[in-house]
Amino acid sequence: MQKQEKIINMFNEISSTYDLLNRLLSFGIDKRWRQKACKKCFSLYEPKITKIIDVACGTGDMLYFWDEASKKLNKPVKEYLGVDPSVGMLAVAKEKIKFAKFIEGTATALPAKDNSADFVSISYGIRNVVARQDAWKEFYRVLKPGGLLVVLEFTKPEKENVFGQFTKWYMQKMIPFIGKIISKHSDAYTYLPDSIKAFETTKSLKEEMQSAGFKEEFIKGYSFEISTLFIMRKPKA
Ligand SMILES: C[S@@+](CC[C@H](N)C(=O)[O-])C[C@H]1O[C@@H](n2cnc3c(N)ncnc32)[C@H](O)[C@@H]1O
Repeated sequence: MQKQEKIINMFNEISSTYDLLNRLLSFGIDKRWRQKACKKCFSLYEPKITKIIDVACGTGDMLYFWDEASKKLNKPVKEYLGVDPSVGMLAVAKEKIKFAKFIEGTATALPAKDNSADFVSISYGIRNVVARQDAWKEFYRVLKPGGLLVVLEFTKPEKENVFGQFTKWYMQKMIPFIGKIISKHSDAYTYLPDSIKAFETTKSLKEEMQSAGFKEEFIKGYSFEISTLFIMRKPKA
């Protein structure tokens, strides 16, 4: 089986316990990371918003926070679309989120027209996309000129901070231990720290997006750089 197919199968297998483990393992902090991303993004965008596409939408959490921020900030959004290749994750999303349309698909072939989205978001998803360079091209294609790409991700630390040792222990020992007990999946929660270790740094990921044509708008690490928010703009001309 190909690497990408294996990853998607793994998400199918853990979809029923995914939300519970997400909240538990992040002590609920992921909610704050998502809220900050949505709020910042709305503050950087003036035009009326017709469409937000959440790629690798999983169980739909990011869409929930897009809608929450849109209502709080009085910035109406006409249409929400969630895209994910895992039917298991999408089934949970469809139960939870009634205001969005969901389509089974991958980051490299989005079911959307050129220049049609105001925001494209991908939260904790780009690490799982094997053909990442093709995904950047696809995000660029579907975004309107001036539109924003919003990436939330666990990047590899550039250098260790004071909490480095604790974070390492928590990621490499505790997450696989708790993850295995609850999800009953033998290696899904070993994949998480392993995939972060094999992933890019904040700097290298930013450079990839810049090479794909995006301009840096806002980049910030949260909670001792555990989670990083990237907001990149597709230039107008
Ligand atoms: C860690 S989950 C994140 C889900 C959600 N965005 C969140 O923040 O909770 C990663 C998601 O990426 C999806 N995924 C894996 N490969 C993908 C691909 N090539 N294109 C789009 N999504 C993909 C998985 O099915 C899974 O739902």
